[in-house]
Amino acid sequence: MDGKAKWAMGQVLGSLLLVPACDKPRASVVPLQMPPPPVCPIQTPDAAAKAVDRMREAILAELALQPGMQAGDIGTGGGWFTVRVARAVGKSGRVFGTDIDAATLEGLRNAPALGEDAAPIRLTQVTAERETGLDDLPANSLDLLLMIDSLCFDSRVPQATNIAYLQRFLRLLKPGGRLVHHMDCTCRTRVADVEALFAAAGFALPNGRKTLRCEAVSAQACPTAEAQERARFLGVFRKAR
Ligand SMILES: C[S@@+](CC[C@H](N)C(=O)[O-])C[C@H]1O[C@@H](n2cnc3c(N)ncnc32)[C@H](O)[C@@H]1O
Repeated sequence: MDGKAKWAMGQVLGSLLLVPACDKPRASVVPLQMPPPPVCPIQTPDAAAKAVDRMREAILAELALQPGMQAGDIGTGGGWFTVRVARAVGKSGRVFGTDIDAATLEGLRNAPALGEDAAPIRLTQVTAERETGLDDLPANSLDLLLMIDSLCFDSRVPQATNIAYLQRFLRLLKPGGRLVHHMDCTCRTRVADVEALFAAAGFALPNGRKTLRCEAVSAQACPTAEAQERARFLGVFRKAR
């Protein structure tokens, strides 16, 4: 091959290499299987970082806390809800917090006192995933139970065990009392299955499904439509009157 021919060959190869993929003929390209678009628009990183607090605030607003209420907080974690509920229900109320993690509860026990206007808080460690930690309380004694991002009702635990667990909470609620459940969006379960589980345990679901607004879920942490459905779902399950 002479110099001219080599140069021409170089031009052809170069142009082949430099043409961007999207300019190539498409006839033989197999279309990619795209995931369904997320339900909520992607937020800026700053907004995503604040989404957890916005989610908690949105749930807190749904609780309709009243002075004198008796409430249980299942999976207190650092006590974001425990503390706010104790302040809102006041000294005539009572809060019962549980967690499966001893160190978490220890941190909460060592937190600064809430003052005499807040409800007394009893903290109990549970030692198994489906132990309530509240079985010593009388039936019909609680107005509200919170289960926020602490439990996944997935197939790791047999359905009958989950039903029995929820029935122990149902026993504790006063007639008309509520169990408010929010799940982490990574839970391997469907919203409809969670609703069916609570119904099977005997909870009423009158207008039970509330949906949090997009601002209250992190589209980054919960990137698929299914994950976002879980993140936006707030189950407000009642004991019938
Ligand atoms: C993500 S934190 C949420 C804490 C708090 N509810 C909130 O929303 O800020 C989950 C907490 O649930 C606790 N937890 C997990 N499984 C539990 C169970 N079966 N019973 C009680 N607590 C549990 C964990 O130890 C952890 O402290």
